[in-house]
Amino acid sequence: MNQKHSLLSRLAPFGQKHLLAHWDALADSQRQEFAAQIDGINFAQLATLYTNRDHLIDVVAMVERAQEPPAYRLDSDANAISRSDAIQAGRDALAAGKVAVLVVAGGQGTRLGFDHPKGMFPIGPVGNTTLFQMHIEKTIARGRQCNRSIPFCVMTSPTTHDETVGFFAKHKRFGLAESDLLIFCQGTMPSVSLADGKVLLAAPDQIAMSPDGHGGMLAAFQLSGCLDQLRERGIEMLFYFQVDNPLVDIANEEFLGYHILSRSELTSQVVRKQTPQDRVGNIVSIDGRLHVIEYSDLPDEFATRRKPDSTLAIWAGSIAVHIMELDFLKRQTENKSSLPFHIAKKKVPYIDTNGNPVAPQEPNAIKFERFIFDLLPAADNAIVVEVDSRYHFAPLKNANGSPTDSPADSPESVRKQLSDISIEWLTLTGVRVAPNVRVEISPLFANTPEALAERVNQGLVPRDIDRNTRF
Ligand code: UTP
Repeated sequence: MNQKHSLLSRLAPFGQKHLLAHWDALADSQRQEFAAQIDGINFAQLATLYTNRDHLIDVVAMVERAQEPPAYRLDSDANAISRSDAIQAGRDALAAGKVAVLVVAGGQGTRLGFDHPKGMFPIGPVGNTTLFQMHIEKTIARGRQCNRSIPFCVMTSPTTHDETVGFFAKHKRFGLAESDLLIFCQGTMPSVSLADGKVLLAAPDQIAMSPDGHGGMLAAFQLSGCLDQLRERGIEMLFYFQVDNPLVDIANEEFLGYHILSRSELTSQVVRKQTPQDRVGNIVSIDGRLHVIEYSDLPDEFATRRKPDSTLAIWAGSIAVHIMELDFLKRQTENKSSLPFHIAKKKVPYIDTNGNPVAPQEPNAIKFERFIFDLLPAADNAIVVEVDSRYHFAPLKNANGSPTDSPADSPESVRKQLSDISIEWLTLTGVRVAPNVRVEISPLFANTPEALAERVNQGLVPRDIDRNTRF
């Protein structure tokens, strides 16, 4: 049987023969690569996912049993572990070299509309510092505090991998030791037509693929060997975050401490929801296990419920910052059902069977993605730790609007939030900052208000700042 026939007989049972519509016009080398792509796809799995696409979980039944998650609150005297004990435990773990950091940076960043990996976006309010540089500098600063370097892992995807690797090389890893930077690439999933489940072609010899979601981290972390490598180095826990939050407080000692002293396998940072409609995942406890209920799934009736003190009953908004035990992750790599695929209906450009490019105006396709927070229910002793969203969460998601219009989560709004915090830290030390001036503080200069006060005492900061300044 020739190659085309053998491929056709593989595709036919799944109704995917159209993938070979342009086969005869392909050069031999293109055919070999395309055949390899087809070989790498699990069509039986795709068929099942498509058939079950509208299989909805009964959110109402879940939410009816939902309770508040075990939490360390910002304003509670009732916290079982004291702040100082938590800080000490976190410090000890860092000093003993038990902590590594992992950033997921494989997303396509479609809303931001930036032509490079999002980590390369210049977000510093004064110095145009990129997200990657900020994250690395925070990690180095934390390492210096505990006299121990902290390994930094980056998850890329096929779309962001080569550029990310080149970017870190070009900038000499922003000072991080070579052995402390681990970059690994996540997997992909084909996009299928919303109407009939047929796999879409991006080109005559290319299937339309997209990254398999931030939950793809679990499999990729294992397959790349990074998980085992870190365990061999004595790392016990991973500080996980998303590349687009420049306010993330990397490897914060207090956060680590609550996790360690609670013997939690997965601890999540949360913010107190300001309104029932806040667009963050809701962390709740159901039958003694933590779960995330997405904001789009949470019926209004539950989102608006209030406690006797009039605060929201479902209050804990996830900001996708977690600490995960490596032993737990290892166990989960063997649990096939731990990370189910979710579906997202998207506009995916494709070529039709006549070879014409189509740029859809409406969602035409389904992408399949795994979400890392689906690990939560499997984790023993999982807890949440509340942080103040103003100081910890500034997700860069959207493009700037017109010059007068700065939508939420856009470069302009994020830069302002970063600068405002730096100004607040300076003002606390008695430094005066003129109105309309922007300030940026490198974590290597000072990574806490206390560290900044020291810099001021050392005479390294002028008493009056009247122009945009980066320290
Ligand atoms: P988002 O879900 O916000 O997606 O990712 P995005 O790609 O950044 O932006 P849009 O939706 O296309 O506009 C949240 C975080 O998860 C990472 C992203 O890089 C970001 O840090 N992510 C997302 C991955 O690493 N892989 C994925 O497959 C998806």
